[in-house]
Amino acid sequence: MFSKIIATGSYLPAKILTNDELAQTVDTSDEWIRTRSGIRARRIAAADEQTSDLAVAAAREALAAAGVAAAEVDLIVVATTTPDMIFPSTACIVQDKLGARHAAAFDLQAVCSGFVYALSVVDRMVASGQYRHALVIGAEIYSRILNWQDRTTCVLFGDGAGAVLVSPSQTPGILATRLHADGSRRAILNVPGQVRHGVIEGDPHVHMDGPAVFKMAVQVMAEVCEETLAMAKLTAADIDWLVPHQANVRIIDATGRRLGVPAEKTIVTVAGQGNTSAASIPLALDTAVRDGRIRPGHVVQTVGVGGGFTWGSALIRW
Ligand code: UT7
Repeated sequence: MFSKIIATGSYLPAKILTNDELAQTVDTSDEWIRTRSGIRARRIAAADEQTSDLAVAAAREALAAAGVAAAEVDLIVVATTTPDMIFPSTACIVQDKLGARHAAAFDLQAVCSGFVYALSVVDRMVASGQYRHALVIGAEIYSRILNWQDRTTCVLFGDGAGAVLVSPSQTPGILATRLHADGSRRAILNVPGQVRHGVIEGDPHVHMDGPAVFKMAVQVMAEVCEETLAMAKLTAADIDWLVPHQANVRIIDATGRRLGVPAEKTIVTVAGQGNTSAASIPLALDTAVRDGRIRPGHVVQTVGVGGGFTWGSALIRW
């Protein structure tokens, strides 16, 4: 028994924040943001929206695309770094809001690699035969953990959610997954604050050594793609679509070059969304499925990288 992605969905909050609007409140410019990152705008969740609301909207789209009812879902895994609350998990809140009363539910925290980590875990759970309809959701509201005065971070991130529905299959759908972490590099990207005795201690905003993250991302992303290709006995020439984590168009370009996948075969959504962390890969998958680029039979190489430091790849036959 194998597992397969049978449908996708996504949700972006309505509010668009452009580079020019940002430049009115922080010392930056559209030109700097565009040339350094490829980002032109990002979405910002409304005050009354929670990460679970974004996740539910994306999940509903995936279920509708598959013609599967919420009551048939038996597993929900939410990859997020920005949960609604400390506990219960955002996945439990999604389960309730969705009406998926038969589903087990838990969150998985691997920052921007969260979706690939979650897909890898769910692949095994579904392929074991124990679960029939598993939702893997990446959902984030980074706008609430950014310091809007820190131009080195606040221009780069955005809010959104993407979801995939994973079901058992007689033929391989998830061809190979490979996950890595290096906790010794945790200082280059983190939110160091914590709640202690009812008080937030430390800064609860994103801190990032941009150039160090850039260097590490470019180094490891192509490497881990090569690992899953080798596991599946495929080469880069077999890849129909490269769907990398959407943090920076320069990192995406460098990964494609190192791997030998041309730009025409790479899905890039970062311009209008910014870096949506764990949501970026499922958002990009849904975009490319709905516009007809990703089609049944295609080989899709996903690769995530982010805080932890974590990185991983899932090679998928659509
Ligand atoms: O999901 C994973 C999370 N993050 C990432 O993948 C991000 C990885 N890193 C990057 O994408 C890039 O390193 C950045 C886009 C963050 C920065 O690009 P860079 O080419 O590495 O620029 P830099 O950090 O070396 O900064 C160049 C200059 C600095 O000024 P000085 O020291 O040269 O005078 C910065 O202070 O640009 C300045 N700068 C800005 N200027 C205008 C930094 N942020 C801004 C800004 N607007 N928003």
